Amino acid sequence: MKLLAFVGSPRKGSNVEILIDKVIEGVHSKISASVKKIYLYKANIQLCTGCLACTALKGGKPCPLKDDMPRILTAMEQADGFIFGPPNHVHSMSAAMVNLFCRMQPLIKMSVERDSVGNIIGATSSTTISGKRAVVVVSQGDFSPCQSALLLRVLDSNIKDFKLVKVAEILSTGNLERAQVKDKAYDLQQAFEAGVRLAGVK
Ligand SMILES: Cc1cc2nc3c(=O)[nH]c(=O)nc-3n(C[C@H](O)[C@H](O)[C@H](O)COP(=O)(O)O)c2cc1C
Repeated sequence: MKLLAFVGSPRKGSNVEILIDKVIEGVHSKISASVKKIYLYKANIQLCTGCLACTALKGGKPCPLKDDMPRILTAMEQADGFIFGPPNHVHSMSAAMVNLFCRMQPLIKMSVERDSVGNIIGATSSTTISGKRAVVVVSQGDFSPCQSALLLRVLDSNIKDFKLVKVAEILSTGNLERAQVKDKAYDLQQAFEAGVRLAGVK
């Protein structure tokens, strides 16, 4: 099994990454897997400029940005599953995680139906990563889970757009400080079990 883990926090080794590592541990407890972590704040992933070139509306052309993203998209197509780890930043996903989903748009293949004067009257879509498994790992500072309600909804919508199958979701709260989750046995256990599910065992 090949997995890609997207570390969406700018703080290396902090809450999100600790939880991601637990998920990976859960995977390895059941199967042998090759896991590659991608640090979104270190990778060369430029901001989407919104040109829409990659969309069906503009003919599905290659993204004009020259960076690591084509290589990452190929790795995603070759992977069996993903771990998405955004921290909560301003009630939302971290900027780098939002940008990842923007830059993943070339994976969506859409065919649009137009009327006789060119208006779009319908569309069907498929994706090149459809059916792959995903685990979502979120860490936030506040103790109230409501803080991440919007974030989790946006994540779910994107997972649906890319036709992924979410097998587990971890929301760890009260982690304002760096690496605070390291002593939270329950959250770490939940992350471990998410890894077991990602491995496809239960
Ligand atoms: C710019 C910024 C905005 C944040 N906004 C929120 C927020 O709206 N709600 C919340 O609960 N925590 C918020 N936090 C706290 C982080 O979600 C929390 O520290 C999280 O555990 C960070 O994960 P990390 O340690 O892996 O970076 C914010 C942190 C930063 C840096």
